[in-house]
Amino acid sequence: MRLQYLSHSCFMINTDANQTILIDPFLDDNPNAPLKSKDVSADFIVVTHAHGDHLGDTLKIADKEKTTIICVNELAEYFNSKGYKAHNMHIGGSYDFVFGRAKLTIAHHSSFTPEGECMGPAAGVVLTIEGKNLYHPGDTGIFYDMKLIGEMNPLDYMFVPIGDNYTMGIEDGVKAVELANPKVAIPMHYDTFPVIKADPSLFCTKVREIGKKCIVMKYGEEITI
Ligand code: NI
Ligand code: MN
Repeated sequence: MRLQYLSHSCFMINTDANQTILIDPFLDDNPNAPLKSKDVSADFIVVTHAHGDHLGDTLKIADKEKTTIICVNELAEYFNSKGYKAHNMHIGGSYDFVFGRAKLTIAHHSSFTPEGECMGPAAGVVLTIEGKNLYHPGDTGIFYDMKLIGEMNPLDYMFVPIGDNYTMGIEDGVKAVELANPKVAIPMHYDTFPVIKADPSLFCTKVREIGKKCIVMKYGEEITI
Protein backbone atom coordinates (compact mmCIF):
# COMPACT_ATOMS: atom_id res chain seq x y z
CA MET A 1 0.00 0.00 0.00
CA ARG A 2 1.03 3.62 -0.36
CA LEU A 3 0.83 6.16 2.45
CA GLN A 4 0.76 9.89 1.72
CA TYR A 5 0.95 12.66 4.31
CA LEU A 6 -1.25 15.63 3.47
CA SER A 7 -0.11 17.65 6.52
CA HIS A 8 -1.76 18.23 9.92
CA SER A 9 -3.52 14.94 10.83
CA CYS A 10 -4.45 14.02 7.27
CA PHE A 11 -3.14 10.84 5.67
CA MET A 12 -4.20 9.15 2.47
CA ILE A 13 -3.79 5.42 2.05
CA ASN A 14 -3.99 3.70 -1.33
CA THR A 15 -4.21 -0.06 -1.03
CA ASP A 16 -2.85 -2.56 -3.54
CA ALA A 17 -6.49 -3.32 -4.40
CA ASN A 18 -6.96 0.35 -5.33
CA GLN A 19 -9.03 1.39 -2.36
CA THR A 20 -8.44 4.93 -1.14
CA ILE A 21 -8.82 5.74 2.54
CA LEU A 22 -8.51 9.32 3.76
CA ILE A 23 -8.09 10.18 7.43
CA ASP A 24 -9.10 13.60 8.79
CA PRO A 25 -9.06 15.51 5.47
CA PHE A 26 -8.38 19.12 6.53
CA LEU A 27 -7.14 20.66 3.29
CA ASP A 28 -8.83 23.81 1.99
CA ASP A 29 -8.31 25.97 5.11
CA ASN A 30 -4.98 24.36 5.93
CA PRO A 31 -2.01 26.50 4.84
CA ASN A 32 0.31 23.46 4.70
CA ALA A 33 -1.91 21.14 2.67
CA PRO A 34 -0.24 20.15 -0.61
CA LEU A 35 -3.59 19.14 -2.12
CA LYS A 36 -7.02 20.71 -1.83
CA SER A 37 -10.42 19.05 -1.59
CA LYS A 38 -10.97 19.28 -5.35
CA ASP A 39 -7.79 17.24 -5.90
CA VAL A 40 -8.78 14.18 -3.89
CA SER A 41 -11.45 11.50 -3.79
CA ALA A 42 -11.88 8.58 -1.44
CA ASP A 43 -13.68 5.30 -1.08
CA PHE A 44 -13.53 5.70 2.69
CA ILE A 45 -12.98 8.69 4.97
CA VAL A 46 -12.15 8.11 8.63
CA VAL A 47 -13.10 11.14 10.75
CA THR A 48 -11.66 10.92 14.26
CA HIS A 49 -13.75 13.81 15.59
CA ALA A 50 -15.81 16.80 14.48
CA HIS A 51 -13.37 19.66 15.04
CA GLY A 52 -12.85 21.72 11.90
CA ASP A 53 -9.25 20.62 11.49
CA HIS A 54 -10.31 16.94 11.34
CA LEU A 55 -13.83 16.84 9.90
CA GLY A 56 -12.27 19.32 7.52
CA ASP A 57 -13.48 18.98 3.95
CA THR A 58 -15.24 15.66 4.42
CA LEU A 59 -18.56 17.08 3.18
CA LYS A 60 -16.87 18.35 0.00
CA ILE A 61 -14.78 15.25 -0.71
CA ALA A 62 -17.25 12.48 0.12
CA ASP A 63 -19.37 11.20 -2.74
CA LYS A 64 -22.86 10.59 -1.35
CA GLU A 65 -23.12 7.31 -3.28
CA LYS A 66 -19.60 5.94 -3.29
CA THR A 67 -17.83 7.14 -0.14
CA THR A 68 -18.28 5.52 3.25
CA ILE A 69 -17.46 7.74 6.22
CA ILE A 70 -16.20 5.83 9.26
CA CYS A 71 -16.68 7.46 12.66
CA VAL A 72 -18.45 7.23 16.02
CA ASN A 73 -22.22 6.93 16.03
CA GLU A 74 -23.13 10.53 16.89
CA LEU A 75 -20.95 11.96 14.14
CA ALA A 76 -22.16 9.29 11.71
CA GLU A 77 -25.75 10.41 12.34
CA TYR A 78 -24.69 13.97 11.48
CA PHE A 79 -23.33 12.78 8.11
CA ASN A 80 -26.34 10.51 7.50
CA SER A 81 -28.73 13.40 8.20
CA LYS A 82 -27.02 15.36 5.42
CA GLY A 83 -27.47 12.52 2.93
CA TYR A 84 -24.01 10.99 3.22
CA LYS A 85 -23.25 7.33 3.78
CA ALA A 86 -21.63 6.85 7.17
CA HIS A 87 -20.76 3.64 8.96
CA ASN A 88 -21.72 4.02 12.62
CA MET A 89 -19.20 2.53 15.00
CA HIS A 90 -18.10 3.20 18.52
CA ILE A 91 -15.03 3.08 20.70
CA GLY A 92 -13.72 -0.45 21.21
CA GLY A 93 -15.58 -1.76 18.18
CA SER A 94 -14.01 -2.99 15.00
CA TYR A 95 -15.47 -3.86 11.62
CA ASP A 96 -14.19 -5.52 8.45
CA PHE A 97 -14.47 -3.22 5.47
CA VAL A 98 -13.47 -4.10 1.92
CA PHE A 99 -10.01 -2.53 2.46
CA GLY A 100 -9.39 -4.16 5.84
CA ARG A 101 -10.35 -3.64 9.46
CA ALA A 102 -11.02 -0.44 11.39
CA LYS A 103 -11.11 -0.38 15.20
CA LEU A 104 -11.99 2.77 17.09
CA THR A 105 -9.99 3.62 20.18
CA ILE A 106 -10.35 6.11 23.01
CA ALA A 107 -9.01 9.64 22.69
CA HIS A 108 -8.86 12.17 25.52
CA HIS A 109 -10.40 15.05 23.62
CA SER A 110 -13.80 16.50 22.62
CA SER A 111 -15.80 16.55 19.39
CA PHE A 112 -17.82 19.60 18.43
CA THR A 113 -18.66 20.71 14.89
CA PRO A 114 -17.54 24.20 13.85
CA GLU A 115 -21.21 25.15 14.46
CA GLY A 116 -20.88 24.04 18.08
CA GLU A 117 -22.89 20.81 18.01
CA CYS A 118 -21.54 18.02 20.23
CA MET A 119 -20.81 14.89 18.20
CA GLY A 120 -20.16 12.37 20.95
CA PRO A 121 -16.64 11.46 22.00
CA ALA A 122 -13.47 11.94 19.99
CA ALA A 123 -11.78 8.75 18.86
CA GLY A 124 -8.64 7.27 17.43
CA VAL A 125 -8.43 4.38 15.00
CA VAL A 126 -6.35 1.30 14.35
CA LEU A 127 -6.52 0.33 10.68
CA THR A 128 -5.48 -3.18 9.68
CA ILE A 129 -4.66 -3.18 5.98
CA GLU A 130 -2.69 -5.82 4.08
CA GLY A 131 -1.58 -7.34 7.37
CA LYS A 132 -0.23 -4.09 8.81
CA ASN A 133 -1.59 -2.17 11.79
CA LEU A 134 -1.64 1.61 11.52
CA TYR A 135 -2.63 3.59 14.61
CA HIS A 136 -3.98 7.12 14.17
CA PRO A 137 -4.80 8.35 17.70
CA GLY A 138 -6.69 11.46 16.52
CA ASP A 139 -6.29 14.41 18.85
CA THR A 140 -5.49 13.22 22.34
CA GLY A 141 -3.45 13.62 25.44
CA ILE A 142 -1.27 10.71 26.40
CA PHE A 143 -2.95 7.78 28.14
CA TYR A 144 -1.52 4.62 29.58
CA ASP A 145 -3.90 2.37 27.59
CA MET A 146 -1.82 3.13 24.51
CA LYS A 147 0.27 0.27 25.86
CA LEU A 148 -2.76 -2.02 25.71
CA ILE A 149 -3.65 -0.85 22.19
CA GLY A 150 -0.12 -1.72 21.07
CA GLU A 151 -0.09 -5.06 22.86
CA MET A 152 -3.40 -6.21 21.41
CA ASN A 153 -2.80 -4.78 17.92
CA PRO A 154 0.97 -4.94 17.36
CA LEU A 155 1.60 -1.68 15.58
CA ASP A 156 3.58 -1.22 12.39
CA TYR A 157 2.99 2.54 12.16
CA MET A 158 1.82 5.09 14.71
CA PHE A 159 0.98 8.66 13.78
CA VAL A 160 1.76 10.86 16.78
CA PRO A 161 0.37 14.34 17.47
CA ILE A 162 3.26 16.46 18.72
CA GLY A 163 2.03 20.06 18.42
CA ASP A 164 1.16 20.46 22.10
CA ASN A 165 -1.53 22.91 23.33
CA TYR A 166 -4.50 20.82 22.03
CA THR A 167 -2.79 17.41 22.11
CA MET A 168 0.38 15.75 23.27
CA GLY A 169 3.58 17.70 22.79
CA ILE A 170 6.95 16.22 21.91
CA GLU A 171 7.80 14.86 25.36
CA ASP A 172 4.43 13.15 25.81
CA GLY A 173 4.52 11.98 22.20
CA VAL A 174 7.83 10.19 22.77
CA LYS A 175 6.41 8.51 25.87
CA ALA A 176 3.32 7.53 23.84
CA VAL A 177 5.61 5.80 21.33
CA GLU A 178 7.33 4.00 24.18
CA LEU A 179 3.94 2.81 25.47
CA ALA A 180 2.33 1.81 22.17
CA ASN A 181 5.60 0.40 20.81
CA PRO A 182 5.08 0.76 17.04
CA LYS A 183 7.78 -0.30 14.58
CA VAL A 184 7.73 3.21 13.10
CA ALA A 185 6.48 6.54 14.49
CA ILE A 186 5.42 9.43 12.23
CA PRO A 187 4.77 12.88 13.76
CA MET A 188 1.61 14.83 12.89
CA HIS A 189 -0.57 17.76 14.10
CA TYR A 190 2.21 20.37 14.20
CA ASP A 191 3.03 23.74 12.55
CA THR A 192 -0.42 24.22 11.01
CA PHE A 193 -1.15 27.11 13.40
CA PRO A 194 1.32 29.24 15.41
CA VAL A 195 0.09 27.72 18.67
CA ILE A 196 1.07 24.17 17.61
CA LYS A 197 4.54 24.94 16.30
CA ALA A 198 6.84 22.01 16.99
CA ASP A 199 10.01 20.50 15.57
CA PRO A 200 9.29 17.05 14.08
CA SER A 201 13.03 16.35 13.70
CA LEU A 202 13.55 16.87 17.42
CA PHE A 203 10.68 14.45 18.06
CA CYS A 204 12.28 11.86 15.80
CA THR A 205 15.67 12.32 17.45
CA LYS A 206 14.10 11.64 20.84
CA VAL A 207 12.18 8.63 19.49
CA ARG A 208 15.41 7.19 18.09
CA GLU A 209 17.02 7.69 21.51
CA ILE A 210 14.54 5.16 22.90
CA GLY A 211 15.50 2.74 20.13
CA LYS A 212 12.50 3.22 17.84
CA LYS A 213 12.27 4.19 14.18
CA CYS A 214 10.80 7.56 13.27
CA ILE A 215 10.07 9.21 9.92
CA VAL A 216 9.29 12.88 9.32
CA MET A 217 7.07 12.83 6.25
CA LYS A 218 7.14 15.99 4.14
CA TYR A 219 3.82 17.54 3.18
CA GLY A 220 2.64 15.57 0.17
CA GLU A 221 5.30 12.88 0.52
CA GLU A 222 4.21 9.37 -0.38
CA ILE A 223 5.88 6.18 0.80
CA THR A 224 5.25 2.52 0.12
CA ILE A 225 4.70 0.61 3.34
NI1 NI B 1 -9.51 18.42 17.95
MN1 MN C 1 -6.85 19.01 15.97
